[in-house]
Amino acid sequence: MAFPTNRMRRLRRNQRLRNMVRETRLSPECMIYPIFVCPGDNVKKEVSSMPGQFNLSIDNAVKVAREAEQAGIAGILLFGIPEEKDELGSDAFNEDGIIQKALRAIRENVRELLLITDICLCEYTSHGHCGVIRHGDVDNDPTLKLLADSAVSHVRAGADIVAPSDMMDGRVAAIRRGLDDEGLTGTPIMSYAAKYASGFYGPFREAAGSTPKFGDRRTYQMDPPNAREALREIALDIEEGADIVMVKPALAYLDIISQARERFDVPIAAYQVSGEYSMIEAAARAGWIERERVILETTTAIKRAGADILITYYALELAKTL
Ligand code: PBG
Repeated sequence: MAFPTNRMRRLRRNQRLRNMVRETRLSPECMIYPIFVCPGDNVKKEVSSMPGQFNLSIDNAVKVAREAEQAGIAGILLFGIPEEKDELGSDAFNEDGIIQKALRAIRENVRELLLITDICLCEYTSHGHCGVIRHGDVDNDPTLKLLADSAVSHVRAGADIVAPSDMMDGRVAAIRRGLDDEGLTGTPIMSYAAKYASGFYGPFREAAGSTPKFGDRRTYQMDPPNAREALREIALDIEEGADIVMVKPALAYLDIISQARERFDVPIAAYQVSGEYSMIEAAARAGWIERERVILETTTAIKRAGADILITYYALELAKTL
């Protein structure tokens, strides 16, 4: 039945009505807040391309973790900035590496907050690539062992979930096997399954000091024009044992989130990455957009597309204002 019997505006007449019929709701319970942990004491160094986000020494990371727990968000995603980098990225799987130390300190101070760690080597390697280099490119298979070792050491130090972001083939299976061999069968893997070689990671690489010294990540991260390939990546990761799969970046890949939601029954996470954050902050500073509205609109869009879990630098702020 059409107009005048049907009038779509009837349910938009006031805020109560609009709230009642709202289809997508944001809740802190589905949000994850990424943080960058660095060496030192009482360090809180703002990332210049990400105003409002910081490199935090462990003492300050503990404070943020407490805040996050109180705000009711699901978890924090930890990235480590090591004291020293080397060819293999050894700090990633060193028992006394930056992440391992941070995990032990944070675990002592928060009980329920989920501690999720990014499993990758790029923050730890001198060349800035996500794995072992051979003949000028990342060598897939030797990298797998290092990733599995990193995962095991993170979980031993207190991680609740591990999140491989390296995009090596077979890494979910290698990590699952590594964890299971150590009896860590109950730890979920949230894989960055469809991770694109994106221009949106620029500010993160400043924050983590992980810009590749040569070349780029196109031989391992996905080519942005491809959608079917993303579904294959996701299917393979699920087959290898991923408990949660992620699409990243989020806003430019809503179609992938939506297709993944239709096709797969595992929980889907989406990562609103650094460049998405920085664009909003920059435009808001210039007075060109209404900051709070755009934050809500973009994060809601990611959920509306089908993401169950939202990884965003706005998690803490949203949790306090929602
Ligand atoms: C590590 C990693 C990156 C991000 C998450 N994990 C950087 C990259 O792949 O270059 C990006 C997150 C962001 O931009 O916020 N491989």
